[in-house]
Amino acid sequence: MSHPVLNERHVLVIGQRLAPVAQEAMPAARLEVAGAERLDLPDTLHGALELLLIDVDAVDPAVLTGVLNALSQRPTPPAVLLAGSHLPTALVKAVMRLSRSDVLEAPFTSVDLSRAAAVLLADAKAPAGAPHQAHCWTVMGSVGGCGATTIAVEIATELARRAGADRRVALVDLNLCDGAASAYLGATANMLLAEASATPERIDQALLDAFSMRVGGGLDLLACPRDPKAFGKVSAMAVCRVLEVACQVYDHVVVDLPRHHQAWTLDVLAGCDEILVVSELTVPALLAARSLATEIEAELPDGAPPRIILNRLASRVFGPAPSLAEAEKALQRKADGGVTSDWEAAAASANLGGAISHHRPRSKIVRDIAVLVDRLTAPQAAQRGRAA
Ligand SMILES: Nc1ncnc2c1ncn2[C@@H]1O[C@H](COP(=O)(O)OP(=O)(O)OP(=O)(O)O)[C@@H](O)[C@H]1O
Ligand SMILES: [Mg+2]
Repeated sequence: MSHPVLNERHVLVIGQRLAPVAQEAMPAARLEVAGAERLDLPDTLHGALELLLIDVDAVDPAVLTGVLNALSQRPTPPAVLLAGSHLPTALVKAVMRLSRSDVLEAPFTSVDLSRAAAVLLADAKAPAGAPHQAHCWTVMGSVGGCGATTIAVEIATELARRAGADRRVALVDLNLCDGAASAYLGATANMLLAEASATPERIDQALLDAFSMRVGGGLDLLACPRDPKAFGKVSAMAVCRVLEVACQVYDHVVVDLPRHHQAWTLDVLAGCDEILVVSELTVPALLAARSLATEIEAELPDGAPPRIILNRLASRVFGPAPSLAEAEKALQRKADGGVTSDWEAAAASANLGGAISHHRPRSKIVRDIAVLVDRLTAPQAAQRGRAA
Protein backbone atom coordinates (compact mmCIF):
# COMPACT_ATOMS: atom_id res chain seq x y z
CA MET A 1 0.00 0.00 0.00
CA SER A 2 1.27 3.49 -0.87
CA HIS A 3 2.23 5.88 1.91
CA PRO A 4 0.43 9.31 1.71
CA VAL A 5 3.74 11.17 2.17
CA LEU A 6 4.74 9.85 -1.27
CA ASN A 7 1.77 11.33 -3.10
CA GLU A 8 2.69 13.92 -5.75
CA ARG A 9 6.40 13.60 -4.93
CA HIS A 10 8.79 14.02 -7.84
CA VAL A 11 10.72 10.72 -8.03
CA LEU A 12 13.37 9.83 -10.62
CA VAL A 13 13.90 6.07 -11.04
CA ILE A 14 17.18 5.06 -12.68
CA GLY A 15 16.98 1.57 -14.19
CA GLN A 16 14.01 0.13 -16.09
CA ARG A 17 14.04 -3.00 -13.90
CA LEU A 18 12.84 -0.95 -10.93
CA ALA A 19 9.88 0.60 -12.78
CA PRO A 20 7.17 -2.00 -11.89
CA VAL A 21 8.08 -2.21 -8.20
CA ALA A 22 8.36 1.61 -7.94
CA GLN A 23 4.98 2.02 -9.63
CA GLU A 24 3.41 -0.37 -7.13
CA ALA A 25 5.18 1.21 -4.15
CA MET A 26 4.34 4.84 -5.07
CA PRO A 27 1.29 4.86 -7.37
CA ALA A 28 0.44 8.53 -6.65
CA ALA A 29 4.00 9.89 -6.96
CA ARG A 30 5.22 11.72 -10.07
CA LEU A 31 7.51 8.95 -11.33
CA GLU A 32 10.01 9.37 -14.11
CA VAL A 33 11.87 6.24 -15.22
CA ALA A 34 15.15 6.66 -17.12
CA GLY A 35 18.48 5.06 -17.90
CA ALA A 36 21.89 5.86 -16.41
CA GLU A 37 22.48 8.62 -18.99
CA ARG A 38 19.79 10.71 -17.22
CA LEU A 39 22.26 11.20 -14.35
CA ASP A 40 24.35 13.40 -16.64
CA LEU A 41 21.59 15.93 -17.17
CA PRO A 42 21.90 19.12 -15.09
CA ASP A 43 18.38 19.11 -13.67
CA THR A 44 19.08 15.72 -12.05
CA LEU A 45 21.16 17.59 -9.50
CA HIS A 46 19.01 20.72 -9.42
CA GLY A 47 15.37 21.58 -9.57
CA ALA A 48 12.39 20.09 -7.86
CA LEU A 49 13.48 16.43 -7.77
CA GLU A 50 12.67 14.97 -4.33
CA LEU A 51 13.78 11.35 -4.49
CA LEU A 52 16.38 9.61 -6.64
CA LEU A 53 15.82 5.84 -6.71
CA ILE A 54 18.73 4.03 -8.36
CA ASP A 55 19.19 0.42 -9.44
CA VAL A 56 22.88 0.07 -8.64
CA ASP A 57 23.33 -2.59 -11.35
CA ALA A 58 22.11 -0.13 -14.01
CA VAL A 59 24.91 2.40 -13.47
CA ASP A 60 28.69 2.18 -13.64
CA PRO A 61 29.84 2.25 -9.94
CA ALA A 62 32.49 4.93 -10.60
CA VAL A 63 29.97 7.18 -12.35
CA LEU A 64 27.43 6.65 -9.58
CA THR A 65 30.02 7.44 -6.89
CA GLY A 66 30.82 10.69 -8.74
CA VAL A 67 27.15 11.63 -8.94
CA LEU A 68 26.62 10.96 -5.23
CA ASN A 69 29.72 12.99 -4.33
CA ALA A 70 28.43 15.88 -6.46
CA LEU A 71 25.03 15.64 -4.77
CA SER A 72 26.62 15.81 -1.33
CA GLN A 73 28.08 19.22 -2.31
CA ARG A 74 24.59 20.60 -2.95
CA PRO A 75 22.90 22.60 -0.20
CA THR A 76 19.56 20.79 -0.66
CA PRO A 77 20.12 17.52 -2.54
CA PRO A 78 17.21 15.15 -3.19
CA ALA A 79 16.88 12.04 -1.01
CA VAL A 80 18.71 9.05 -2.50
CA LEU A 81 17.70 5.39 -2.29
CA LEU A 82 20.07 2.79 -3.75
CA ALA A 83 18.66 -0.61 -4.62
CA GLY A 84 20.99 -3.58 -5.10
CA SER A 85 23.27 -6.02 -3.38
CA HIS A 86 27.03 -6.24 -2.71
CA LEU A 87 27.60 -2.49 -3.06
CA PRO A 88 31.25 -1.40 -3.51
CA THR A 89 32.69 0.32 -0.42
CA ALA A 90 33.31 3.63 -2.25
CA LEU A 91 29.64 3.73 -3.19
CA VAL A 92 28.49 3.04 0.36
CA LYS A 93 30.78 5.80 1.65
CA ALA A 94 29.48 8.24 -0.95
CA VAL A 95 25.85 7.52 -0.13
CA MET A 96 26.52 7.87 3.60
CA ARG A 97 27.75 11.41 3.01
CA LEU A 98 24.22 12.42 2.02
CA SER A 99 21.98 13.53 4.85
CA ARG A 100 18.92 11.70 3.48
CA SER A 101 19.86 8.37 1.93
CA ASP A 102 19.30 4.65 2.37
CA VAL A 103 20.19 1.32 0.77
CA LEU A 104 17.60 -1.35 -0.07
CA GLU A 105 19.15 -4.79 -0.11
CA ALA A 106 17.80 -6.94 -2.99
CA PRO A 107 15.51 -8.81 -3.09
CA PHE A 108 12.87 -6.44 -1.69
CA THR A 109 9.13 -5.94 -2.09
CA SER A 110 7.11 -2.86 -3.07
CA VAL A 111 6.12 -2.56 0.61
CA ASP A 112 9.81 -2.41 1.62
CA LEU A 113 10.42 0.25 -1.03
CA SER A 114 7.36 2.30 -0.07
CA ARG A 115 8.40 2.24 3.58
CA ALA A 116 12.02 3.26 2.92
CA ALA A 117 10.99 6.07 0.54
CA ALA A 118 8.38 7.36 3.01
CA VAL A 119 10.96 7.58 5.80
CA LEU A 120 13.30 9.64 3.58
CA LEU A 121 10.58 11.96 2.30
CA ALA A 122 8.91 12.40 5.67
CA ASP A 123 12.20 13.93 6.84
CA ALA A 124 12.15 16.24 3.85
CA LYS A 125 8.71 17.60 4.72
CA ALA A 126 10.09 19.80 7.46
CA PRO A 127 13.60 20.89 6.52
CA ALA A 128 15.48 22.02 9.60
CA GLY A 129 15.88 25.75 10.04
CA ALA A 130 13.57 26.76 7.22
CA PRO A 131 10.34 27.73 8.94
CA HIS A 132 9.89 30.93 6.95
CA GLN A 133 8.64 31.04 3.38
CA ALA A 134 10.02 34.10 1.61
CA HIS A 135 9.20 35.17 -1.91
CA CYS A 136 12.30 35.12 -4.06
CA TRP A 137 12.29 36.84 -7.45
CA THR A 138 15.22 36.73 -9.85
CA VAL A 139 15.95 39.36 -12.50
CA MET A 140 18.40 38.64 -15.32
CA GLY A 141 19.23 40.47 -18.54
CA SER A 142 19.10 38.86 -21.97
CA VAL A 143 22.06 40.99 -23.13
CA GLY A 144 24.47 43.34 -21.36
CA GLY A 145 23.15 46.76 -20.43
CA CYS A 146 19.47 46.06 -21.10
CA GLY A 147 18.43 47.36 -17.68
CA ALA A 148 18.29 44.26 -15.44
CA THR A 149 19.93 46.01 -12.48
CA THR A 150 17.78 49.11 -12.87
CA ILE A 151 14.63 46.97 -12.86
CA ALA A 152 15.84 44.81 -9.93
CA VAL A 153 16.59 47.97 -7.90
CA GLU A 154 13.19 49.52 -8.67
CA ILE A 155 11.23 46.31 -7.99
CA ALA A 156 13.02 45.80 -4.65
CA THR A 157 12.45 49.44 -3.67
CA GLU A 158 8.76 49.21 -4.57
CA LEU A 159 8.37 45.97 -2.59
CA ALA A 160 10.07 47.60 0.44
CA ARG A 161 7.75 50.62 0.17
CA ARG A 162 4.70 48.34 0.13
CA ALA A 163 6.02 46.08 2.86
CA GLY A 164 6.19 48.80 5.52
CA ALA A 165 8.28 48.66 8.66
CA ASP A 166 7.29 45.20 9.89
CA ARG A 167 8.34 43.22 6.83
CA ARG A 168 11.80 42.89 5.39
CA VAL A 169 12.99 43.11 1.79
CA ALA A 170 16.50 42.43 0.44
CA LEU A 171 18.14 42.99 -2.91
CA VAL A 172 20.95 40.47 -3.49
CA ASP A 173 23.39 41.41 -6.29
CA LEU A 174 25.02 38.22 -7.56
CA ASN A 175 27.10 40.03 -10.22
CA LEU A 176 30.02 39.15 -7.99
CA CYS A 177 32.79 40.84 -10.03
CA ASP A 178 31.29 44.18 -10.89
CA GLY A 179 27.72 44.42 -9.63
CA ALA A 180 26.26 47.88 -10.12
CA ALA A 181 23.36 47.79 -7.62
CA SER A 182 25.43 49.36 -4.83
CA ALA A 183 26.57 52.20 -7.12
CA TYR A 184 23.02 52.82 -8.36
CA LEU A 185 21.78 52.97 -4.78
CA GLY A 186 24.73 55.02 -3.51
CA ALA A 187 25.44 52.31 -0.92
CA THR A 188 28.54 50.43 0.23
CA ALA A 189 29.01 46.87 -1.02
CA ASN A 190 29.70 44.89 2.11
CA MET A 191 29.17 41.24 1.29
CA LEU A 192 32.55 39.51 1.66
CA LEU A 193 31.50 36.28 -0.01
CA ALA A 194 34.97 35.20 -1.15
CA GLU A 195 36.10 35.17 2.51
CA ALA A 196 32.91 33.39 3.62
CA SER A 197 33.38 30.70 0.97
CA ALA A 198 35.94 28.84 3.11
CA THR A 199 33.29 28.09 5.75
CA PRO A 200 29.88 28.47 4.09
CA GLU A 201 28.18 26.61 6.95
CA ARG A 202 28.99 29.62 9.14
CA ILE A 203 26.85 31.95 7.04
CA ASP A 204 23.97 32.74 9.36
CA GLN A 205 21.65 35.61 10.17
CA ALA A 206 24.33 37.48 12.15
CA LEU A 207 26.78 37.33 9.26
CA LEU A 208 24.08 38.38 6.80
CA ASP A 209 23.33 41.39 9.02
CA ALA A 210 27.02 42.30 8.89
CA PHE A 211 27.05 41.88 5.09
CA SER A 212 23.91 43.92 4.43
CA MET A 213 23.54 47.68 4.02
CA ARG A 214 20.27 49.44 4.79
CA VAL A 215 19.45 51.73 1.87
CA GLY A 216 16.59 54.22 1.51
CA GLY A 217 13.02 53.10 2.08
CA GLY A 218 13.73 50.12 4.31
CA LEU A 219 15.48 48.04 1.68
CA ASP A 220 18.57 45.98 2.59
CA LEU A 221 21.27 45.51 -0.02
CA LEU A 222 23.59 42.48 -0.17
CA ALA A 223 26.30 43.19 -2.73
CA CYS A 224 29.98 42.30 -3.10
CA PRO A 225 32.82 44.81 -3.41
CA ARG A 226 34.34 44.96 -6.88
CA ASP A 227 36.71 42.05 -7.57
CA PRO A 228 37.42 40.90 -11.13
CA LYS A 229 38.32 37.40 -9.89
CA ALA A 230 35.31 36.93 -7.62
CA PHE A 231 33.60 34.26 -9.74
CA GLY A 232 36.63 32.03 -9.22
CA LYS A 233 36.79 32.72 -5.48
CA VAL A 234 33.16 32.36 -4.40
CA SER A 235 31.84 28.81 -4.02
CA ALA A 236 28.41 27.58 -5.04
CA MET A 237 27.83 26.55 -1.43
CA ALA A 238 28.42 30.12 -0.23
CA VAL A 239 26.04 31.64 -2.79
CA CYS A 240 23.33 29.08 -2.03
CA ARG A 241 23.78 29.47 1.71
CA VAL A 242 23.45 33.28 1.48
CA LEU A 243 20.18 32.90 -0.39
CA GLU A 244 18.95 30.18 1.96
CA VAL A 245 19.57 32.37 5.02
CA ALA A 246 18.20 35.46 3.24
CA CYS A 247 14.98 33.58 2.53
CA GLN A 248 14.71 32.74 6.23
CA VAL A 249 15.40 36.29 7.39
CA TYR A 250 13.53 38.36 4.78
CA ASP A 251 9.96 38.30 3.54
CA HIS A 252 10.99 39.17 0.02
CA VAL A 253 14.31 38.61 -1.73
CA VAL A 254 15.08 40.10 -5.16
CA VAL A 255 18.16 38.66 -6.90
CA ASP A 256 20.10 40.50 -9.62
CA LEU A 257 21.47 37.42 -11.42
CA PRO A 258 24.27 37.54 -14.02
CA ARG A 259 23.17 36.13 -17.36
CA HIS A 260 26.42 34.16 -17.83
CA HIS A 261 25.98 30.68 -16.41
CA GLN A 262 27.80 30.00 -13.12
CA ALA A 263 28.05 26.75 -11.12
CA TRP A 264 25.22 28.05 -8.91
CA THR A 265 22.94 29.61 -11.55
CA LEU A 266 20.51 26.68 -11.72
CA ASP A 267 20.37 26.40 -7.93
CA VAL A 268 19.37 30.06 -7.69
CA LEU A 269 16.78 29.76 -10.46
CA ALA A 270 15.38 26.51 -9.03
CA GLY A 271 14.85 28.17 -5.65
CA CYS A 272 12.98 31.27 -6.80
CA ASP A 273 9.30 31.74 -7.53
CA GLU A 274 9.59 34.37 -10.24
CA ILE A 275 12.19 34.60 -13.02
CA LEU A 276 12.17 37.89 -14.91
CA VAL A 277 14.18 38.00 -18.14
CA VAL A 278 14.76 41.62 -19.14
CA SER A 279 15.15 42.53 -22.79
CA GLU A 280 15.39 45.71 -24.74
CA LEU A 281 13.53 46.23 -27.98
CA THR A 282 16.28 45.26 -30.38
CA VAL A 283 16.25 42.11 -32.48
CA PRO A 284 19.48 40.66 -30.94
CA ALA A 285 18.20 41.26 -27.40
CA LEU A 286 14.80 39.73 -28.17
CA LEU A 287 16.39 36.66 -29.74
CA ALA A 288 18.72 36.34 -26.76
CA ALA A 289 15.72 36.63 -24.40
CA ARG A 290 13.94 33.90 -26.32
CA SER A 291 16.99 31.61 -26.11
CA LEU A 292 17.55 32.33 -22.43
CA ALA A 293 13.89 31.65 -21.52
CA THR A 294 13.91 28.43 -23.56
CA GLU A 295 17.16 27.29 -21.92
CA ILE A 296 15.77 27.93 -18.44
CA GLU A 297 12.60 25.99 -19.25
CA ALA A 298 14.62 23.08 -20.62
CA GLU A 299 16.97 22.94 -17.62
CA LEU A 300 14.28 23.40 -14.98
CA PRO A 301 11.06 21.95 -16.37
CA ASP A 302 9.38 22.13 -12.95
CA GLY A 303 10.67 25.60 -12.08
CA ALA A 304 9.02 29.00 -12.25
CA PRO A 305 8.18 29.89 -15.87
CA PRO A 306 10.41 32.76 -17.03
CA ARG A 307 8.60 36.02 -17.76
CA ILE A 308 9.89 38.49 -20.31
CA ILE A 309 10.02 42.17 -19.36
CA LEU A 310 10.65 44.64 -22.17
CA ASN A 311 12.67 47.63 -21.04
CA ARG A 312 13.25 51.11 -22.45
CA LEU A 313 10.02 51.13 -24.44
CA ALA A 314 9.66 54.37 -26.36
CA SER A 315 6.62 56.28 -25.13
CA ARG A 316 5.67 56.91 -28.74
CA VAL A 317 6.24 54.21 -31.28
CA PHE A 318 8.29 56.11 -33.85
CA GLY A 319 11.61 55.12 -35.32
CA PRO A 320 13.09 51.76 -36.14
CA ALA A 321 12.31 49.85 -32.90
CA PRO A 322 10.13 46.75 -33.35
CA SER A 323 6.47 47.10 -32.29
CA LEU A 324 5.18 45.02 -29.38
CA ALA A 325 3.57 42.58 -31.83
CA GLU A 326 6.87 42.23 -33.73
CA ALA A 327 8.75 41.82 -30.45
CA GLU A 328 6.40 39.05 -29.34
CA LYS A 329 6.80 37.36 -32.70
CA ALA A 330 10.60 37.37 -32.29
CA LEU A 331 10.22 36.14 -28.72
CA GLN A 332 7.70 33.48 -29.76
CA ARG A 333 5.85 34.23 -26.55
CA LYS A 334 3.98 37.06 -24.87
CA ALA A 335 5.84 39.73 -22.94
CA ASP A 336 4.77 39.88 -19.30
CA GLY A 337 5.58 43.51 -18.64
CA GLY A 338 7.04 46.65 -20.11
CA VAL A 339 9.05 49.57 -18.71
CA THR A 340 9.09 52.91 -20.51
CA SER A 341 12.35 54.59 -21.45
CA ASP A 342 13.22 57.64 -19.36
CA TRP A 343 16.92 58.42 -19.70
CA GLU A 344 16.79 61.60 -17.65
CA ALA A 345 15.21 59.89 -14.65
CA ALA A 346 17.48 56.84 -14.88
CA ALA A 347 20.68 58.86 -15.29
CA ALA A 348 19.81 61.48 -12.66
CA SER A 349 18.99 58.81 -10.06
CA ALA A 350 22.15 56.81 -10.81
CA ASN A 351 24.22 59.99 -10.50
CA LEU A 352 22.58 61.04 -7.26
CA GLY A 353 22.65 57.50 -5.82
CA GLY A 354 19.21 56.12 -5.02
CA ALA A 355 16.14 54.59 -6.64
CA ILE A 356 14.35 56.33 -9.50
CA SER A 357 11.19 56.15 -7.36
CA HIS A 358 13.02 58.29 -4.79
CA HIS A 359 14.54 60.93 -7.06
CA ARG A 360 11.99 60.95 -9.90
CA PRO A 361 8.75 59.56 -8.39
CA ARG A 362 6.70 60.77 -11.38
CA SER A 363 8.80 58.95 -13.96
CA LYS A 364 6.94 56.47 -16.14
CA ILE A 365 9.54 53.92 -15.06
CA VAL A 366 8.13 54.11 -11.51
CA ARG A 367 4.56 53.74 -12.75
CA ASP A 368 5.45 50.74 -14.93
CA ILE A 369 7.34 49.01 -12.12
CA ALA A 370 4.30 49.47 -9.83
CA VAL A 371 2.08 47.84 -12.48
CA LEU A 372 4.57 44.98 -12.81
CA VAL A 373 4.73 44.44 -9.04
CA ASP A 374 0.90 44.53 -8.89
CA ARG A 375 0.82 41.82 -11.51
CA LEU A 376 3.44 39.67 -9.84
CA THR A 377 1.86 39.92 -6.40
CA ALA A 378 -1.70 39.27 -7.63
CA PRO A 379 -3.01 35.99 -6.17
CA GLN A 380 -3.33 34.33 -9.59
CA ALA A 381 0.35 35.10 -10.37
CA ALA A 382 1.43 32.65 -7.70
CA GLN A 383 -0.66 29.92 -9.28
CA ARG A 384 0.49 30.45 -12.84
CA GLY A 385 2.05 27.22 -14.07
CA ARG A 386 4.18 26.73 -17.13
CA ALA A 387 1.33 25.02 -18.89
CA ALA A 388 -0.99 28.01 -18.31
N1 LIG B 1 13.82 52.27 -18.59
C1 LIG B 1 14.97 52.91 -18.76
N2 LIG B 1 15.01 54.14 -19.35
C2 LIG B 1 16.17 54.76 -19.53
N3 LIG B 1 17.36 54.29 -19.17
C3 LIG B 1 17.41 53.08 -18.60
C4 LIG B 1 16.22 52.34 -18.35
N4 LIG B 1 16.58 51.18 -17.77
C5 LIG B 1 17.92 51.19 -17.65
N5 LIG B 1 18.42 52.34 -18.14
C6 LIG B 1 19.82 52.73 -18.23
O1 LIG B 1 20.48 51.77 -19.04
C7 LIG B 1 21.82 51.57 -18.59
C8 LIG B 1 22.07 50.11 -18.30
O2 LIG B 1 21.20 49.73 -17.24
P1 LIG B 1 21.57 48.57 -16.20
O3 LIG B 1 22.90 48.80 -15.58
O4 LIG B 1 20.40 48.45 -15.28
O5 LIG B 1 21.61 47.33 -17.20
P2 LIG B 1 22.10 45.83 -16.88
O6 LIG B 1 21.30 44.95 -17.77
O7 LIG B 1 22.01 45.57 -15.44
O8 LIG B 1 23.61 45.90 -17.35
P3 LIG B 1 24.79 44.83 -17.08
O9 LIG B 1 24.73 43.88 -18.21
O10 LIG B 1 26.03 45.67 -17.08
O11 LIG B 1 24.53 44.19 -15.76
C9 LIG B 1 21.99 52.47 -17.36
O12 LIG B 1 22.58 53.67 -17.77
C10 LIG B 1 20.55 52.70 -16.90
O13 LIG B 1 20.41 53.95 -16.22
MG1 LIG C 1 23.46 44.76 -14.16
